[in-house]
Amino acid sequence: MTIDKKYIDQFINVTSKAAIATYHFVGKKDKIASDKSAVDAMRDELNKIDMTGEIVIGEGTLDEAPMLFTGEILGLKEGPKFDIAVDPLEGTNFAANNLPGALSVIAVSEKGNLFKAPETYMHKIATTKVEKGLIDLDYSIKKNIENLADFKNTNPSNLTACILDRPRHKKIIHDLLNLNVKIKLITDGDVAGALLVTNPIYNVDIYLGIGGGPEGVLAAAALDAHNCYFQGKFIFDNEKDISDAKKMGITELDKKYEIYEIVKGDSIFCATAITDTMNMRGVALQDNHYFTTETLVTHKTSKNNHLSIEKRKITFDNVKN
Ligand code: FBP
Repeated sequence: MTIDKKYIDQFINVTSKAAIATYHFVGKKDKIASDKSAVDAMRDELNKIDMTGEIVIGEGTLDEAPMLFTGEILGLKEGPKFDIAVDPLEGTNFAANNLPGALSVIAVSEKGNLFKAPETYMHKIATTKVEKGLIDLDYSIKKNIENLADFKNTNPSNLTACILDRPRHKKIIHDLLNLNVKIKLITDGDVAGALLVTNPIYNVDIYLGIGGGPEGVLAAAALDAHNCYFQGKFIFDNEKDISDAKKMGITELDKKYEIYEIVKGDSIFCATAITDTMNMRGVALQDNHYFTTETLVTHKTSKNNHLSIEKRKITFDNVKN
């Protein structure tokens, strides 16, 4: 089974409409309102698609999130069955403060093929494609960096590592600086952070550190299509998270997950820029009449071994749509 490419345009619409919905809240310092507008729009668009789509990574459980909750079934309830991971507004601080980096994101696979990630933190590491065993979360920072430098036939001082600017990363940052690695600190947005390894134009060789587990799964879907390397390990450090993980069927709590265990088979990934992100322009209102959006799209399909990665620019000529 493959995911028909007709769905690509529909999922681009989903993240584009969610991004447009946040437009009026960007820079208004209201994280809740901008998130809600993205969630509502994304849900409306998903419900127009001929599919039975189950949210496997959403905005939380039913009690906490009335919309796009994990387990919610969306679509016209006909056609293929999909697993769907969403982050309608990734980078709420960026949107609230009108800063670059806010995205609306979705990843879709066939039913049963997307990992149902718990809402915990995750240790992550991402690079371009490397040989098996070269990079590993269990290695020291020194070993990973030296291995990567050797692999790229360069010196650690020519490598750039991207990492969230958090006190929990003090030791990693210290180790990177000792190795003379260039550091790119990001204040938020580690889906985009991880995706910076996908193309040399971003000048990032390795993404590492602790961020959200759901964001890790979303990034892994796009990294898969880019044929990059990713490893993630969830952090279960309290009784509730441990018990939730067990309920989800996770028995090996310190397991390291590789891409093929997170996303299997065909997938579609769309990330629409709400504000300028990576090499995309954020949502723009043109002539006070229509919107333009830019979306990073990946489509991985086993049929024909087809892989498409593109930046799509769309115009929505009716502001109300
Ligand atoms: P939100 O959009 O939900 O605010 O998440 C932003 C983010 O930076 C993620 O990209 C990242 O995975 C996570 O927060 C990191 O969490 P924390 O801010 O607690 O370190």
